[in-house]
Amino acid sequence: MISEAENTIWETGFDSSGVKYSLPIGQDPAFTDALSVNNVIKQKLESYSRSKWETDQEDAFYVCDLGEVHNQHMKWKKYLPRIEPHYAIKSNPDPMVAKLLATLGAGFDCASKTEIQQVLGMGVEPNRIIYANPCKQSSYLQYASQQNVTLMTFDNEEELHKIKKFYPHAELVIRILADDAKSTSALGLKFGAPLDTVDHLLHVAQQLSLNVIGVSFHVGSGCHDEHAFADAVLRARTVFDQAENMGFRFTMLDVGGGFPGADVKEGATFEKMAAVLGPAVDELFSSDVRVIAEPGRYYVSSAFTICAHVIGRRTVKSNSDEPTYMYYLNDGIYGTFNCIIFDYKQPKAQILLKNGKYLYGLKINEPEYDCSLWGPTCDSIDCLTKSTRMPVLNQGDWLYWENMGAYTSCSASQFNGFKIAKVFYTNASS
Ligand SMILES: Cc1ncc(COP(=O)(O)O)c(C=O)c1O
Repeated sequence: MISEAENTIWETGFDSSGVKYSLPIGQDPAFTDALSVNNVIKQKLESYSRSKWETDQEDAFYVCDLGEVHNQHMKWKKYLPRIEPHYAIKSNPDPMVAKLLATLGAGFDCASKTEIQQVLGMGVEPNRIIYANPCKQSSYLQYASQQNVTLMTFDNEEELHKIKKFYPHAELVIRILADDAKSTSALGLKFGAPLDTVDHLLHVAQQLSLNVIGVSFHVGSGCHDEHAFADAVLRARTVFDQAENMGFRFTMLDVGGGFPGADVKEGATFEKMAAVLGPAVDELFSSDVRVIAEPGRYYVSSAFTICAHVIGRRTVKSNSDEPTYMYYLNDGIYGTFNCIIFDYKQPKAQILLKNGKYLYGLKINEPEYDCSLWGPTCDSIDCLTKSTRMPVLNQGDWLYWENMGAYTSCSASQFNGFKIAKVFYTNASS
């Protein structure tokens, strides 16, 4: 029988040379095999069915395959060897993911004091961090100064005055506006200096004797046009030239985030983006320019699967021949599925367990009925899918959704007292 402790399964990671290890936490050291995501889920559900009710074991849970994160890092190094990835930890601050990337030598993009603390707390050197939030709280700037986190972005004059006051020796990167029209999250609405303001900003920095060392941009999160990178790199070159004419010596280019995860297999894939970005950088920037990036989604998207339990069903009888069903799940819009609102996702549910039958990866041949999927809170906005078709589900069945690692748990709340889903780890894919 699998105990609750065994369900925390094992600590999985990679040592500095990239070799994977898998240590059971407080369990028999012989138990070191890395299971497939399928088998981790199966074990978890079996342990639930043999457990007592009061253990809350039907709570929704994630399975994280750290092997996916590892593979993504190796792929990055293969396709963009010149560009140093700084993991945008905002996309998923999971401690095991962060620890793995720290061990593999990645840098980190932090947006706040808490994120900087998390990264420094893992023993990462301050010079592997970029504080990539163009508008920073003064006390956080002071914290960055105390911790020697020197590298940071800005995009407006007021920020320069703030930096002068609280961290005059910081190394600054001017974030310019990129064309983000081909991205799901258009970050340019909020950040990025338009090119016609750059001259003025650099003059102000010069007057304040601030140390501006380069340019950054962000093509927008969830970018679906690889050519956005070519255009942005060209803009960055223009700003480098402008700065050089003013007497600056720029040494850094930061190409931001926007890279798709391994789940994007058609259209603007990572490989296609790398094929545009890599040569554009090499063509326009000499090898003495340090080039970094801030990928978030890229690393974690495909690494997490979420499993949720059908806690209730309501049958709606209309005048038509067929009934329709409303299914209530124990994860929703205030939890993992906040990504429907904040990240414009349309997650696709798959049936995991139905009438006690385990169905991971299998298609079932049963009649389908109109239905809707709802989260567990008392709010009616808590709806995952307004209308879809599925075989009839019962209370006690399970559903799962793949590719749920980016912008999910990081922005989940505990509204109505529902806990954020726990994570179980494996390293199946490496
Ligand atoms: C400054 C900055 N860098 C990096 C990222 C990560 O973007 P992505 O997850 O699309 O790679 C974001 C996302 O919002 C961001 O704001």
